[in-house]
Amino acid sequence: MPSGDYQKFLKEILVSEKDLKIRVAELGRQISADYAGEKILLVCVLRGGVMFLTDLMRHLSIPHMIDFMALSSYGVGARESSGTVRITMDLNMDIYDRHVLIVEDIVDSGRTMASLIEVLETRHPRSLKICTLLDKATRREVDVKLDYVGFDIEDRFVFGYGLDLDEFYRDLPFVGVVDLDAYTPEE
Ligand code: IMP
Ligand code: MG
Repeated sequence: MPSGDYQKFLKEILVSEKDLKIRVAELGRQISADYAGEKILLVCVLRGGVMFLTDLMRHLSIPHMIDFMALSSYGVGARESSGTVRITMDLNMDIYDRHVLIVEDIVDSGRTMASLIEVLETRHPRSLKICTLLDKATRREVDVKLDYVGFDIEDRFVFGYGLDLDEFYRDLPFVGVVDLDAYTPEE
């Protein structure tokens, strides 16, 4: 059962549980076809990408490994990222000569992904691609090539399905829009 009193500030469901299931399965099939005959390493960006990763994995028919990375952006506050991104937890695996697919929850300004790509390129993977569940393309400040996108969404603050609202509500099975006027953070 979904946690907490989210109904109070859930403005609307933007992507339903059913649509997520259908699209994640489609992405899994597409990725499997594109990398046919190869092994890949899925690099999940903590923490928002976790639910997407675990669902996506179940739709991959190619051999794959997983590893995790945590990034934090300086300044601005919890709901926006600033220019500089710092690695707070690095990968365990060596990505040299591997096919790496980054799995992310959402690309907003693009700064997080751009910095991550820059860092990972220095380790010389065989290939490096990005798979994001959500894309807020109208917010882009830094150009970044997204190879797989689940849904293009408009510029609204969303939560659920891995995405947090002040670290809570990641468990919700849908992606919802927050009514920021009706929302007060948990104590
Ligand atoms: P970017 O560096 O501006 O592209 O920001 C990407 C990060 O900001 C994501 O990985 C999320 O952690 C966070 N983010 C951006 N928009 C949202 C949102 O609507 N809900 C939750 N997190 C968001
Ligand atoms: Mg994130």
